[in-house]
Amino acid sequence: HKRVAILISGGGSNMVSLVDSMTGDHPARPCLVLSNNADAGGLAKAADRGIATAVVDHRPFGGDRAAFEAELCKPLLEAKPDIICLAGFMRVLTGDFVSRFQGRMLNIHPSLLPKYKGLNTHARAIAAGDAEHGCTVHEVTAALDDGPILGQARVKIAPNDTPETLARKVLEWEHKLYPAVLERFARGDKAPVMLP
Ligand code: GAR
Repeated sequence: HKRVAILISGGGSNMVSLVDSMTGDHPARPCLVLSNNADAGGLAKAADRGIATAVVDHRPFGGDRAAFEAELCKPLLEAKPDIICLAGFMRVLTGDFVSRFQGRMLNIHPSLLPKYKGLNTHARAIAAGDAEHGCTVHEVTAALDDGPILGQARVKIAPNDTPETLARKVLEWEHKLYPAVLERFARGDKAPVMLP
């Protein structure tokens, strides 16, 4: 099996959807859930599922991203992952870190990239009057929320949607999209998954 490390910062619902998909004849298995936040709700969900967890807090490093990443690398390299999935991991990674894992690191982002890189994507899509929104899984490159697109799921924006209701609708699709992309990617297939 391909070994998959998953990086989280929060509730970890995408991590759970990935972990729960890696059974049976799936070509990959989880090897580590790593968080920059000791309070991340996802850590307990991973431990419940028998997956090794680790925490590297970014805060003691202040703004020194290279020093933080040197620590982050330790448990990550020990786990010997073939694939790294960022799943609600809310730290920006340096080009140095990214280049170590280039071609085998994936991210999920809550917008139809290349639209709305960065934060507050749901509010920005509503404010722009967009008819649709969604989520994207892409290969991670040095540029933020950039890199080859491996899959997208589209969601219609309703006239009464708020950032919160839209976030919930998009998250449901994230939970379908990310596992579908990971399975295909783990088989060596980079053709994009387009949902629904
Ligand atoms: C998800 O919506 C994910 O797309 C987003 O954070 C949420 C994490 O939820 N990621 C980003 O905004 C990355 N910049 P989860 O912890 O329940 O998976």
